[in-house]
Amino acid sequence: MKSVSGAGVVVTGAGSGIGAALARRFAAEGARVVVNDINAEAAAAVAGSCGATAIGADAASEEGVAALVSSARSELGEIDLFCANAGLARAGGPETHEADWDACWQVNVMAHVRAARLLIGPWLERGQGHLICTVSAAGLLTMPGSAPYSVTKHAALAFAEWLALTYAHRGLTVQAICPQGVRTPMLAGSGAAAELLLFDSAIEPEVVAEATIAGIADGQFLILPHPEVAGMYAGRAAETDRWLRGMNRLQQGLESAQ
Ligand SMILES: NC(=O)c1ccc[n+]([C@@H]2O[C@H](COP(=O)([O-])OP(=O)(O)OC[C@H]3O[C@@H](n4cnc5c(N)ncnc54)[C@H](O)[C@@H]3O)[C@@H](O)[C@H]2O)c1
Repeated sequence: MKSVSGAGVVVTGAGSGIGAALARRFAAEGARVVVNDINAEAAAAVAGSCGATAIGADAASEEGVAALVSSARSELGEIDLFCANAGLARAGGPETHEADWDACWQVNVMAHVRAARLLIGPWLERGQGHLICTVSAAGLLTMPGSAPYSVTKHAALAFAEWLALTYAHRGLTVQAICPQGVRTPMLAGSGAAAELLLFDSAIEPEVVAEATIAGIADGQFLILPHPEVAGMYAGRAAETDRWLRGMNRLQQGLESAQ
């Protein structure tokens, strides 16, 4: 798919932030859009603002994903593009409570696995299907101060890569959106490290939607609304110890600023 015009599209976690901007932009481009959120009122408000359909559901649990995919298919026919966008951020290291680690795992990773499980069969039969996962630059690099977020976003990227390499020759397109800071309620609630590291270069969610439209047209796996992330990712791979030393200096800077 090079354009979303006329496509049946589902965006999870679209009652707010990046998901809302994606849903509105896709609708403006002529897509038939399902706006999902666990907060049904927020989903209804965004859907009402852009002529889309709201489906309130938990986009992470097995039952919630099954209900969402089946209601979306009733609404759209087969789903052409599924955007696994819902995500959670939790600050802290290994001491972070089990429940918070689990919440990040469920929403940032298993939501994508469960959606793919239901989507891929019919997509392979049709010989086409498109999945876009909202990951994060934290999935390519890391996020100081937030181990559960960094670890689960790396896992989300690994799963998207695995799907892309496994199904590319059978008509499936898989892409990963990896922004740094985006001005949404998530960023506003992400604490001091995020504020110090991300606020200055933060972009509006509409810029992420613009980059996604361009990314769908060019088909590259990574959609980078902050283009400078490509160089950081290459540096991490090429000179891992140098990159880790730089990140440790950043960590020390954060500790002395707090
Ligand atoms: N804001 C940033 O700086 C930033 C940067 C990189 C990546 N991201 C990623 O972008 C995505 C969207 O984040 P955002 O900044 O728009 O956050 P946000 O908090 O503004 O919106 C997230 C939405 O997801 C919904 N949600 C949470 N759990 C859900 C579930 N189980 N099922 C359905 N909906 C659920 C929430 O109700 C909320 O409306 C996330 O995956 C996030 O990790 C955000």
